Amino acid sequence: MGKHDTGAIAAIKERLDIVEMVRRYVDLRPVSGRWTGPCPFHQETKPSFSVNPQLGYYYCFGCRASGDVIDFYREINGLDFREALQQLAEQAGVELGDARPDPAQDRRRRERSTSIALHKLAAEFYVRNLGAPGGGVARDYIARRGLSEETVRAFALGYSPDDWHALEKYLQGHRHDPRDGVVAGLLVQNDKGNVYDRFRGRLMFPIHNLAGQVVAFGARTLTGDDPKYLNSSESPIYIKGDNLYGLYQARRSIAHHKQALLTEGYTDVLSLHQFGFTNACGVLGTALTENQVRRLAGFCSNLALVFDGDGAGRKAALRSAEMVLARGMTCRVVVLPDGEDVDSLLQAKGAEAFRALLDEAPEGLDFCLRVVGGQSTRELVQWADGFLGQLDEPQWRSPLITRIAQRLGFKEDEFRARLASEGRARAAAPVAPAPRAGDKGNKLDRQLVRFAVCNPHYVARLRDKGMGRVLVSEFALCLWEKMEANPGLDVMHILTPAEKRYWVECLEGNTRSGEDSEREWTEICDYLERETLRDDKQATFEALRKAQVEGDTAEVERLLRRQQEILGRLNEQH
Ligand code: UTP
Ligand code: MN
Repeated sequence: MGKHDTGAIAAIKERLDIVEMVRRYVDLRPVSGRWTGPCPFHQETKPSFSVNPQLGYYYCFGCRASGDVIDFYREINGLDFREALQQLAEQAGVELGDARPDPAQDRRRRERSTSIALHKLAAEFYVRNLGAPGGGVARDYIARRGLSEETVRAFALGYSPDDWHALEKYLQGHRHDPRDGVVAGLLVQNDKGNVYDRFRGRLMFPIHNLAGQVVAFGARTLTGDDPKYLNSSESPIYIKGDNLYGLYQARRSIAHHKQALLTEGYTDVLSLHQFGFTNACGVLGTALTENQVRRLAGFCSNLALVFDGDGAGRKAALRSAEMVLARGMTCRVVVLPDGEDVDSLLQAKGAEAFRALLDEAPEGLDFCLRVVGGQSTRELVQWADGFLGQLDEPQWRSPLITRIAQRLGFKEDEFRARLASEGRARAAAPVAPAPRAGDKGNKLDRQLVRFAVCNPHYVARLRDKGMGRVLVSEFALCLWEKMEANPGLDVMHILTPAEKRYWVECLEGNTRSGEDSEREWTEICDYLERETLRDDKQATFEALRKAQVEGDTAEVERLLRRQQEILGRLNEQH
C-alpha cells in the first residue's frame, strides 16, 4: 500500500455509502440514526451488527468485527486489501494512482474491465434470445424442468443461438474487437485463426461474482451434444474454484439463516431456490475448494452439504466435510437416495421431503466417521492423522481426537499413542498466545488515545503538546504514531485489526457532547503541559549538575533561572 492511495481511499469512502454496501449482503433495519441487522461474520440470533453511516464504520457487539466500508467488502468477499481496493475503485469510478507505471498490471486491469463489459453484453444478449422466436427450444426445456418465470429471471437464464457467429456479431455491433471476446472466453479462436462463438444452442446459466457482475457461464446442451455442461474456461475475471453458482442470489438468505446449502448441479440450485431454500448455492462441477469455503465463511459458519448417493458422491462428501471442519466451520451432510438428485427429489416429492432429509442429516464429523468406520485400525489412524493435519487451528486437535476415539470405540490414550506413532502425526503445537484485546496499557493512555480517536480535529494540537512523549504502552504508542503522522486524515486502512477494533469501540462508547469534549481537552492540555514541565524539570536538573561539575557559572545561572520558572509554572498548575 503506497501513500498515494490515501486520496483514492478517501474518494472511495466518500462515494460508496457503507449502508448501501452492507445492505447488499445483510438485512439492515434503521434504528435511531444507525442501521442494525444480523452479523454476517458470526452466528447469532439477535441483530448485534450495527452500521454507523455518519462515521462510516460497522461494528458487531457479538464478535467485535469492525471496520470501514473497505474492510467490510474485503472480509465478506474474502479478498486482500489491494484486491478490495481495486474492485471498489472500479465500482466507485475512482482512479487508483500507482507509484510507478506497471504495463503488465495495466494490461491485466484493461483485460478485466473489458471482460466484465463483454460478459454483461453477452448475458443481456442470451436473455434476449431466450425470449426471441429462436429461443423456443430453450423455453420448452425450461417449462419441462418446471422452472418458474421468477427463477429464470432471478438467475438471468438465457439462450445462446445455434449459430457460429451470433454473439461475435453482436459484440462487434457494440464496437468490440472479437479478440477481446476471445480473451474473455466468450469467443474461441481456432488454429486457422477463425473466431466463433463458444456457446451455441445451449441454455445459459450466468455465474455472478458477489458484486453482481457476470464473470462466466455454464451452458447446458439442449440437443444431447457433449459435453452436457460446457463451462467458461479461466479468464482474466474467472478463476475456477473461486466462485459458487448462485452465491450472489443466495447471499442475503445465507447470512439471514446462518447456513448455506451447498449442492452440485445448476438446476439443483434453481430448484432449491424455487422450493424456498433460498440459501442454496452450487460448487460448479469441481470438488469443493478451500477458496469456496473461505468465501462462504464470510456469510455463515454452518453448511449443509448435499451429495449424490453413489460412491463418488460419498467420497466427495467425505472430502468436503473434512475441509469444512478443518476451517472451523460446522456442517451436516445430506446424502441423497441413490439415483436421485436434489432437483428430481424436489420436483417429485416437494419441499417437505427435502426438509426431512436435511433434518435427519448427520453432523459432519459423525458423517466422516460413519464413512471411514468399517476400515482397519491402521487405516482409521491414517485417516484421522490426515484429517487432523488439515486443521486451521492447532487447539482444535485435542478435543477432536477425544471425539474420534470415542466414536470409533478406541481407548483415548491408546488412540493418541497410535496417532503419535503414526510418525507423521504432528504433536499438538503449543498455542501462540493471542494478543489480548483488553491489553491496551494503562488507563491514562487509554483516555488520551480515546480522546484523539473521538476528536480527530485535535490530533495536530495533541502532537504539538507532546502526546507522543507521555504515552507508555506499546499499543497506545503505535496507534498514536499512525494518527500523528496523518493528522486530519482517515487512517483506518493502516490500522491492525486489533487497533481497528479499539478504534471503533472508542467511537461506539463515545457519548460525550461537544461541550464535554472541550472540558476534556482543557484537562488533557493541563496534563500534557504538566508532563512536559516535569520532563523539562528533570532535564534542567541534570544539565545543572553537569554545569556545576564543569564549573560553567554562566550556564549554572541560566539553568537555575529556568528551574525557578518551571517550578513556578508547575505550582500554578495545581
Ligand atoms: P449432473 O450430470 O448431475 O447434471 O452434473 P445435473 O446438474 O443433474 O444436470 P441436469 O439436471 O441434467 O440439467 C452435476 C453438475 O456437474 C457439472 C455441472 O455443474 C452440473 O450441474 N457438470 C456436469 C459439468 O460441469 N459438466 C458436465 O459435462 C457435466
Ligand atoms: Mn439434475
